[in-house]
Amino acid sequence: MQFPRYRARRLRATENLRRLVQETTLVPHDFIMPLFITPGQGVRQEIASLSGQYRLSVDQAVEEARAIADLGILAVLLFGLPEQKDALGREAYSATGVVQQAVRALKQAVPSLLVVTDVCLCEYTDHGHCGVVDGEHIVNDLTLDLLSQAALSHVEAGADIVAPSDMMDGRVGAIRQALDAKGYAQVPIMAYAAKYASSFYGPFRDAVESAPQFGDRRSYQMDPPNVREALREVRLDIEEGADIVMVKPALPYLDVIYRVRQSVDLPLAAYNVSGEFAMLKAAAQRGWLDEERAMLEALTSIKRAGADIIITYFAKEAAQLLSVRC
Ligand code: PBG
Repeated sequence: MQFPRYRARRLRATENLRRLVQETTLVPHDFIMPLFITPGQGVRQEIASLSGQYRLSVDQAVEEARAIADLGILAVLLFGLPEQKDALGREAYSATGVVQQAVRALKQAVPSLLVVTDVCLCEYTDHGHCGVVDGEHIVNDLTLDLLSQAALSHVEAGADIVAPSDMMDGRVGAIRQALDAKGYAQVPIMAYAAKYASSFYGPFRDAVESAPQFGDRRSYQMDPPNVREALREVRLDIEEGADIVMVKPALPYLDVIYRVRQSVDLPLAAYNVSGEFAMLKAAAQRGWLDEERAMLEALTSIKRAGADIIITYFAKEAAQLLSVRC
């Protein structure tokens, strides 16, 4: 197989030859599109740190969901901005919270579109932490009940999948038990299993005003240097009943995606987070990167590393481009 008998360039000569031997192919149904739901009517407010992404009231989210489904995207992931934040994040588990309302409206308007809900308290608490706070301490076990209530309220509204992102120990098991007890044994859990304490969540925290008011999330989210710990977190979530596991962020953690893919056989999701999106957008806006190519290259790398599902703010743009190409 040596030069000059083997010439690697033969199979790179034309677009169709390259396509014929392409090992990784992105398709619109790889993607889940995150949406930010805000109270009110007719609200479509661009998020400064996430260009082209909006805070949407329920009616606008319905319009957006139609466009998303038309592009061949199968699922959205909902986040909520509550009317009011408080110490216990009450709107996270209120039957009339914005996310619960949005779930109902979306399932009615676009029944085939899968609605995934992020289950966490940080968007709803006035201190911005993902759990109940006692002094400077984030209390694990007391939080589990509130997370279970949040998940249950989403499922009662019609959510197809719940996705706990809080990183409290034992929450997947607690949510599974709560759902099963109410007759929702068939609803899957997508666990943010290996979620790192990352600086790349910055733009998201602006979007939902969830930056912690004291301290940081390092006592519950994972330490970036660790990968064996990621495998352990994933294993634990599977033992507790996770149906899909997730690695988050994606691009700075492709090795983690790869290692998790090798070690478990469940579907694997990766979250191409707000900072990864904003970085690329900012460079493209300055003309320093070709946005379309950089976007597809980044998303392809996540799939090549082993992700089956990519949660990305690029979902619409990428799906649009991919459908033009096919
Ligand atoms: C809630 C949550 C966060 C993200 C998803 N769910 C923020 C955080 O943990 O601080 C980040 C998503 C992104 O950056 O795109 N816990």
